[in-house]
Amino acid sequence: MSRLTFVICLFAAAFVALAAGCPASDREALLAFKASLNEPYLGIFQTWSGTDCCRNWYGISCNPTDQRVADINLRGESEDPIFLKAGRSGGYMTGSISPSICNLDRLTTIIIADWKAISGDIPNCVTSLPSLRVLDLVGNRLSGRIPPAIGNLRKLTVLNLADNDLTGDIPPSIVQMSSLMHLDLRSNRISGQIPSDFGKLTMLSRALLGRNQLTGTIPSSIATIYRLADLDLSMNRIGGCIPEQLGEMPVLSTLNLDCNAISGQIPGSLLSNTGIGILNLSRNSLEGSIPDVFGPKSYFMALDLSHNNLKGKIPGTLTGAKYIGHLDLSHNHLCGPIPIGEPFERLEASSFDSNDCLCGNPLRTC
Ligand SMILES: *[C@@H]1O[C@H](CO)[C@@H](O)[C@H](O)[C@H]1NC(C)=O
Repeated sequence: MSRLTFVICLFAAAFVALAAGCPASDREALLAFKASLNEPYLGIFQTWSGTDCCRNWYGISCNPTDQRVADINLRGESEDPIFLKAGRSGGYMTGSISPSICNLDRLTTIIIADWKAISGDIPNCVTSLPSLRVLDLVGNRLSGRIPPAIGNLRKLTVLNLADNDLTGDIPPSIVQMSSLMHLDLRSNRISGQIPSDFGKLTMLSRALLGRNQLTGTIPSSIATIYRLADLDLSMNRIGGCIPEQLGEMPVLSTLNLDCNAISGQIPGSLLSNTGIGILNLSRNSLEGSIPDVFGPKSYFMALDLSHNNLKGKIPGTLTGAKYIGHLDLSHNHLCGPIPIGEPFERLEASSFDSNDCLCGNPLRTC
């Protein structure tokens, strides 16, 4: 072979590689993935034809440098023209997520969200995808456990498995996900305790675990998560006390602990914290009096302490707060006069219903 022929062959080979797009192994993995799903209304998978899976395959994108499949982005709730064309606002898909997805070992994003009826397990092998950053399977009907080795996904920043039918516990390995920023496991049937070393997730800004069957207590290590802004543990079976340290978290702005079995007193730090704007402690077994610690920087869009065993008076310092939007103190054992001034002037009687002996506007005069 002459040098010229060799060079021509080299160019030809490069050209073929470029023109062919994704490697056959990636294409085959996608076709096996597609084979275990059924999407009857939009025709999404009809676009998955031809040899180059990097071009015009709906929801697939590749790394431009090596033409390897990098993202699977299939959302059932989307503004994409494919939905308009089919005259549908939401998607629907049955079937299951094939483990063949794990052959796509350069994946950084897996979004298979809001298809309502995809069932079966989350393939355990996803935990061996070394580059995975986003795993979003919200809004399906997935069952079984969260893969026990989920903690292997050290680059994962988003784990959203909400609105499925998952059971089992929160795998202890989860605390090893050192890049995790957004964790959403709401509305499943996850049981067991929150790992006591949950605070190791130092990058976390949202931890949403509401509407499950979690038991045990709130680990105080959560309070060491510096960036945590949104903590939702509502509608579980969590008991014990509220760790005092939760009130000292620097950027916590929403705390939902409603509908659990939490007892003990409300830490004063929680009510004097000026960053928390939404605090729901409703429907627990909290007792003692409401700490009288509000101040001119207190700013609550919603403060719901209803359905507990709180006693004593309504704190007078509430009238000095900068803003209290929604306030609910109903269904407790509070007593004494309702303070005069903001926000009490504009609140309705329902905010104070079913207490022992509250009086004054908007209830009966004292
Ligand atoms: C607080 O939680 C209770 C019980 O889950 C719920 O009914 C209520 O609407 C919530 N309050 C606010 C202000 O969202």
